[in-house]
Amino acid sequence: MRIGILGGGQLGALLAEQALRLGAAVQVVDPQVDCPAAAVAPVLAAPFDAPETTRALEWCDAVTYEFEGVPLDVCQRLETRVPLFPGTAALEVVRDRFVEKRFLRAQGIPTAEFRPVSSPHELDSALDALGFPAVLKTRADGYDGKGQWLLSSRDDVPDALRQLGSRPAILEAFVPFDRELSLIGVCDADGELRTWAPTENAHVGGILRVSRSPARGLGASQLDTGRRWLGRICDTTDYRGVIAVELFEVQGRWLVNEIACRVHNSGHWTLDGAETSQFENHVRAVLGLPLGDTASRGSSAMVNLIGAVPSEAAVSAVSDARVYLYGKTPRPRRKLGHINLLRGDDEARDRSLRTLIDALGDREMSRAHASIARFDELSADAAGPASAGPDCEHPSPTI
Ligand SMILES: Nc1ncnc2c1ncn2[C@@H]1O[C@H](COP(=O)(O)OP(=O)(O)OP(=O)(O)O)[C@@H](O)[C@H]1O
Ligand SMILES: [Mg+2]
Repeated sequence: MRIGILGGGQLGALLAEQALRLGAAVQVVDPQVDCPAAAVAPVLAAPFDAPETTRALEWCDAVTYEFEGVPLDVCQRLETRVPLFPGTAALEVVRDRFVEKRFLRAQGIPTAEFRPVSSPHELDSALDALGFPAVLKTRADGYDGKGQWLLSSRDDVPDALRQLGSRPAILEAFVPFDRELSLIGVCDADGELRTWAPTENAHVGGILRVSRSPARGLGASQLDTGRRWLGRICDTTDYRGVIAVELFEVQGRWLVNEIACRVHNSGHWTLDGAETSQFENHVRAVLGLPLGDTASRGSSAMVNLIGAVPSEAAVSAVSDARVYLYGKTPRPRRKLGHINLLRGDDEARDRSLRTLIDALGDREMSRAHASIARFDELSADAAGPASAGPDCEHPSPTI
């Protein structure tokens, strides 16, 4: 068995590692010769659209990719020569925020209100319709909050337009969410969908900082709804591989923020906290192997290491913290690694998470954790006799 992987960042590296463990040969393609995957698998250093990329991948049993920014025409060409999963039907949807949101609405899946924006005049009308605050986002190529601007008033518009330039965009209504969640699943060759326990996520500056799974306080009907949505998306796009939906929870209701047709940062806890990780199951699905069990082994948390790597002393503040480093040169806002924690129950997990975050002393991580802790306090208050009631202040999201 041979699997091809477009993209050799940390996701490509973690996929390659799992593929090798399953006994598959791996061919990674990445424009950077010293990408993270180079530490674990052979990397062809070439642009995605180079003829040698096609030549290196077309004799694989199947090809996959680590990010949605991989050029669509390259994937379409590859797809005529070698099985490519997830297929371009899904890629076409998720690579453009406008197409994606229109698709979700057509499937009966709720999203924030949105409008396409291709000129300053269209932005004006969109702001008239949606009001402030709103979020302007490039339609394509955004990640980790790049290519998006929070517009609190008309004063923010000129600067955002200058930075946007001529790129097509969408305007989204700002969602005053209580928390963010993600639901990750995997679809096999026969269309069977399995899901991991839902994950609760806290972002600061548009970058994921802290995740916990299982998310606390979820009802069975919310979960059923989420699974149904995932199933609908997979059926419509003839999906194969791991898929994630990012969700906003607003007073118990869910809106889909975006779909990722790949392994997802909020699923990194599955490396330690699930019977089968998202990386292994993605490789299994892509290669047509039977899927592994997605059940949790306990209560998990994950923190992203952004911009700097902590000292070993800080990490050792909690026992059995699993550190994953991606071998990248430190730069501000760059994901350099992550730490997974696994405990027997939610309370033990939350205690260890707090200790770890205090020891790491990272401001953004602490802010993200504070928003999670605030959600827990508000939920506890709402459930208890001294309920804060409907007027209680919700944690303010930080874009
Ligand atoms: N309409 C919105 N209302 C409120 N917050 C938002 C909105 N859109 C985005 N955000 C915040 O910004 C974060 C990043 O946004 P989004 O997921 O759209 O961008 P991204 O750059 O594709 O991120 P990533 O690739 O890391 O998932 C969200 O997780 C959320 O915290
Ligand atoms: Mg996102």
